[in-house]
Amino acid sequence: MNFELIKKLSSKPKLYEKGSSVMWTDPYISKKLLELHINPDHDIASRNKTKIENISNWILQQANNSKMNILDLGCGPGLYAEFMAQKGHSVTGVDFSENSIQYAIKQAREKQLDIEYLNQNYLDIDFVEKFDLVILIYLDFCVLLPEERDKVLRNIYRALKKGGLFICDVVNEMNIDKKIIAQSWEIQETGFWKDAPYIALTNGYHYPEAKVLANHHIIIGENDTIDTYIFWTHYFETKDLVEILEMHGFGEIKCYNNVLPKSNDYWNGENVTFYVSGKE
Ligand SMILES: C[S@@+](CC[C@H](N)C(=O)[O-])C[C@H]1O[C@@H](n2cnc3c(N)ncnc32)[C@H](O)[C@@H]1O
Repeated sequence: MNFELIKKLSSKPKLYEKGSSVMWTDPYISKKLLELHINPDHDIASRNKTKIENISNWILQQANNSKMNILDLGCGPGLYAEFMAQKGHSVTGVDFSENSIQYAIKQAREKQLDIEYLNQNYLDIDFVEKFDLVILIYLDFCVLLPEERDKVLRNIYRALKKGGLFICDVVNEMNIDKKIIAQSWEIQETGFWKDAPYIALTNGYHYPEAKVLANHHIIIGENDTIDTYIFWTHYFETKDLVEILEMHGFGEIKCYNNVLPKSNDYWNGENVTFYVSGKE
């Protein structure tokens, strides 16, 4: 085992350092993720079924329009898209996980729902004034690096019709120190990260100057293979997010802290805020 390399990799990552691998599009991990997404009973990858229904209803109430063109960015297996299509809306879902999109297409076909799914990176979408509502749900806004965030917001603004709404949920600053994951390790014959034996070393860090947390995973496989994954999660005070949204042209910005109930769930109504903003 290359001890010196592992020691070096185990140090605190530089701000916005990238890992060696991408979780969402890895062929093996994305299958494991799809299993997690479609399990209705927990909040891993996607929220549980009750929360998804409640959030979807809440989102539709904000728009208050019975027939909309809706764009769901990072739609995963289409849990929100399906709910909204079943309420009579025409939905487009975009996700770069091929596994999730193939599953979503099959479900929509079987249920005869008006949903178009695109297997695409949402940083590259180029719709122009097509949608009444764009959603980016389950804290996806928080994982974007600043330049990606700017790109996505430009894409969303362009994609919206005049008077359209953008709705996203973000981590806020409440009790953020409690969200730094603890150092841990695991050894598996097969598991989430690999269909082969591996050791996983995990650590969490806080970068208060950039208001961002990092979850750092080092996965050591047989024959000394090493993959690293670094997940950045920004948290936003209201003044910061309002400034970012306004800079991109959005107005009528409203924030809601009561969409999720306060609970013992890792992400709950205390630390997740929903934002509704409009293209005027
Ligand atoms: C946390 S999951 C949320 C899925 C869905 N919004 C939900 O709540 O059920 C994030 C999703 O965004 C997708 N994703 C992440 N970055 C993306 C990107 N740049 N372009 C397209 N999809 C992306 C992932 O593949 C994954 O399906």
